[in-house]
Amino acid sequence: MTTEISRSGPMFNQNRFKLGIFGLNCSYGCTISHAATTFEPTFEHNVKIAKLADNLGWEFLLPVGRWRHFGGTTQFNGTNLEVYTWAAAISCHTEKIAVFATSHVPTVHPIFAAKQSATIDNISNGRFGINVICGWFKPEMEMFGVKQLEHDERYVMADEWMTCMKRMWTEQDFDHAGKYYNIDQGFLLPKPVQKPHPVVINAGSSPAGIEFSARHADYNVLSITSLESAASKVDNIRLQAAEYDRRCGTLSYALVCCADTEKEAKALYQRIIDEGDWGATNTIIELMLGQNFSYGSNSDEIRAMGERFIAGWGGLPLVGTPEQIVEQMLKLSDMGVEGLAISWLDYHEELKYFGEKVMPLMREAGLRQ
Ligand SMILES: Cc1cc2nc3c(=O)[nH]c(=O)nc-3n(C[C@H](O)[C@H](O)[C@H](O)COP(=O)(O)O)c2cc1C
Repeated sequence: MTTEISRSGPMFNQNRFKLGIFGLNCSYGCTISHAATTFEPTFEHNVKIAKLADNLGWEFLLPVGRWRHFGGTTQFNGTNLEVYTWAAAISCHTEKIAVFATSHVPTVHPIFAAKQSATIDNISNGRFGINVICGWFKPEMEMFGVKQLEHDERYVMADEWMTCMKRMWTEQDFDHAGKYYNIDQGFLLPKPVQKPHPVVINAGSSPAGIEFSARHADYNVLSITSLESAASKVDNIRLQAAEYDRRCGTLSYALVCCADTEKEAKALYQRIIDEGDWGATNTIIELMLGQNFSYGSNSDEIRAMGERFIAGWGGLPLVGTPEQIVEQMLKLSDMGVEGLAISWLDYHEELKYFGEKVMPLMREAGLRQ
């Protein structure tokens, strides 16, 4: 039982397994690889992908919040479109799909973030969502001239940021005096279209991150390293949210390599790995291991981790025929995962294929209406 107001909008529709697109605003998307693709991180190309997803009835578009590249030969993700302006503009080219901004807490004051969010929610008529992130990429955060906070303290700041955001969205003329923010007579009009506020997601996976999701998010975007390990993580999030008398659902993210035959799908995956940029990948791994990510020092384990980053930003790669992809989605769904933010090597072309070959099977399997 929760006391939350029932929510509306694409992220709360009847589809058992929601579909979104991840990382399309950044160069190389979610593949740290030189493998050939028609994908370009331009606004024009993003609109083409967004319109196709909208026409196919997909639920959401999730950009990556990025301020600088990760080096290597790709300068991975270095060219990218700023997320709030991107969301506002993309929403004008689409009709039904939810459009997220992925916002770093330390880079934007909550009054400004709440105002932008409310404005985009009005522009899009209730289709805006916010993915709240704390900023783990030290050189990127320190580019702003401030020292990065320790890991768990970032979530203390995020908790206060989110509290201010929610008050801006739902109250008027309130005062807030906290550790990181002081708001004197907080005022915001127009309020967001969505009630009580735009959909909030978070991808924290540490205990502090999960706690943040449980307190504030409508969905946690789980990092899943194996199909077997997902169920207990989903339960954990649900139970923690219930302690706050709330519901927090679970999404995850994945690179999809799908083709008519398993051999072709595997070859596509292998092409991404073979053309991988280990320079940028190693930078990411070093930064993450430096932050006590739960990996040992075993080189096979680190290599496997690197391959997961090269092919899908650390998510679970789904590789196979349309039937095999749907089988894997069914497994995730049975474990309580309610949808995926998907990336591909070639977003537009592979989304088109997914719409033709995978979506009908998802409907047959009862994953979508
Ligand atoms: C689906 C997904 C999207 C994410 N998007 C971003 C992003 O755009 N920018 C960023 O700096 N971090 C991003 N992250 C990193 C998370 O915010 C988070 O720091 C990470 O998952 C580690 O969890 P923790 O903060 O609980 O340690 C993302 C993670 C996931 C799983």
